[in-house]
Amino acid sequence: MRFLFSRVELLALTLLGLAISGAQAEIRQTSVWWLPRNVTMFGHEIDFIFYVILVLTGVTAVAVFSVMIYFIVKYRAKPGVSAVHSHGNNTLEVIWTGIPVFIFLALAIYGNEQWTQMRLKTPPADALPVAVIGEQFGWNVRYPGADGKLAKMTAASVTKENPFGVDSADAAGLDDFTTYGELVFPVDRPIRLYLGSKDVIHAFYVPEFRLYQDMVPGRIYDFVWLKAEQTGKFQLACNQLCGQGHYKMFGKLSVVPESEYEAWAKGKAPQPTAAKETSTVPVVMAGR
Ligand code: CUA
Repeated sequence: MRFLFSRVELLALTLLGLAISGAQAEIRQTSVWWLPRNVTMFGHEIDFIFYVILVLTGVTAVAVFSVMIYFIVKYRAKPGVSAVHSHGNNTLEVIWTGIPVFIFLALAIYGNEQWTQMRLKTPPADALPVAVIGEQFGWNVRYPGADGKLAKMTAASVTKENPFGVDSADAAGLDDFTTYGELVFPVDRPIRLYLGSKDVIHAFYVPEFRLYQDMVPGRIYDFVWLKAEQTGKFQLACNQLCGQGHYKMFGKLSVVPESEYEAWAKGKAPQPTAAKETSTVPVVMAGR
């Protein structure tokens, strides 16, 4: 029988695959083989529970496989030795059921508490509101102007021309400014995200933020917030397969000192976005 590939060919293919995946991973600058660095407040809890679960499952796996291999060798079939029938041991069974129950309950209660802090509590009142609306295949981003307030957004008003679903009569939105695929967050300041989608399901995902949120069209998600504790340049990547251009649905995200953010925001022309959004002249945006 002839196999499709020889061993040498398979090895070459494997090496080629590794080389290609290595090249793609270069996009992430640090810690390619392990968790990316964490730069947000909630990331500490997420990483903590990740390591707790990793240690628990790691120790359990080593213990279970060691005992299994030991028993396989020790009680292997030997001529003249017949099998012993065991009817179990109630004490042992209570112990090895009770311990996992306790561990799983502890993990569930801890996880629930952290989730409550992250998503179910109202974001801090002084948080900077930033709206991010996904579309095939990019990110519409809207920032508040000097008043610190975004225009009122409703999912039902989201259209091709009005990706944020803003109420153009809302005076709070007159000084808002928008970008396409460019986000700048001030460090150490809470950011309240308003996430949505113009067309299909996208997902807001920044590994270094330990933040992932699906964006289902027809909804504006107003409960996601974060606080970045370190500056840096990151990549906002869509994490739901949303069409042929999904792979290139990236956004540039930087976390900068507050003063740098203020300067950047000031530099973005605070022209009334309502006029731009209804303009019939196609607006070519940088980075598109
Ligand atoms: Cu948007 Cu994938």
